[in-house]
Amino acid sequence: MQIHKNFSLKKYNTFGIEAKARQFVSVHSVDELITVLNENPTTKKFILGGGSNMLLTQDIDALVIHLDLKGKKIIDENDDFVWVESQAGENWHEFVIWTIDQNFGGLENLSLIPGNVGTTPIQNIGAYGVEIKDTFVLCEAIHSETQELMIFTNEKCKFGYRESIFKNEVKDEFIITSVVFKLTKKEHKLNTSYGAIETELEKQHITNPTLKDVSNAVISIRQSKLPDPKELGNSGSFFKNPVILKTDFEKIQQKFPEMPHYVVSETEVKVPAGWLIEQAGFKGKRFGDAGIHRNQALVLVNYGNATGQEILAVAKDIQATIQATFSISIETEVNII
Ligand code: EPU
Repeated sequence: MQIHKNFSLKKYNTFGIEAKARQFVSVHSVDELITVLNENPTTKKFILGGGSNMLLTQDIDALVIHLDLKGKKIIDENDDFVWVESQAGENWHEFVIWTIDQNFGGLENLSLIPGNVGTTPIQNIGAYGVEIKDTFVLCEAIHSETQELMIFTNEKCKFGYRESIFKNEVKDEFIITSVVFKLTKKEHKLNTSYGAIETELEKQHITNPTLKDVSNAVISIRQSKLPDPKELGNSGSFFKNPVILKTDFEKIQQKFPEMPHYVVSETEVKVPAGWLIEQAGFKGKRFGDAGIHRNQALVLVNYGNATGQEILAVAKDIQATIQATFSISIETEVNII
């Protein structure tokens, strides 16, 4: 295992931001990870997965540990279900396709989400009416200081909308090394009620969709709206959709009657941040090499050489404008480093 010094992270973050790690090492097994942790007990550490949910606004003054743990397998099954385990460093989309190719159901709506398997529980990734909490059984994690191995069950993860224990109570304490999902082998519960999926399937004249059909529909929708990080640097949705009090929403609605919203509970509604950003006039705008995607206002993009600070400045401008226009505060979904 080679520890590199002053190492460029440009290829290790999907925003394609140039930033340097003071030290950088790739680990390929849990043993290698434990060795690195043991040999560098007092060094500040930063764990890097797929780099798909972070904005680097500065160099990282730490030992960056790139989790390149590979491997996926079936660990248990019965007539109806299968339990599959993936190591943290597997690419998420490739893992999803591997499950679909074996006719295992549950992850098809989450096709084409960038990033690695090990980071999916941190923000409980979700799309088109499905979140990983729906199929997640447990993950194994190592404490970065004591190296204690911990099992986090679904309940213990305290999943919420783009939330988990790993963003709150135990933030930066544990390194997730593998994840187990429980998937269906038959009688798959397809979730095609999300408007865009239905429309896409109808367009293709599919009335009795397979897992692969749903996955392909999701892939088409995502490709039409969301930029491919290989072509245009981005981190997916930059902001979370704000959840606001119903009473506040009713006041704002008097001024903006066409504002879309989804009821979350008796007292709360969720508003699409993409709509707010588009209404505020930011969609498709470009400030130097930083910009707002033209097909989906929730996605900030790097046209080439934007710095993290430049993208952050655009994000702050958007937040301030939304606050001033709608009296709604929007939080970032992406981690600002
Ligand atoms: N909208 C606009 N203008 C835009 C974008 C959206 O007006 O530029 C409005 C439309 O009214 C649309 C509504 O927002 O009906 C919802 O848009 P969309 O279905 O594209 O979903 P989203 O709320 O923008 C969320 C997730 C995505 C996920 C999609 C599909 C968050 C923060 N984002 O986006 O997740 O793929 O739903 O389920 O919850 C991600 O987290 O990185 C991500 C891409």
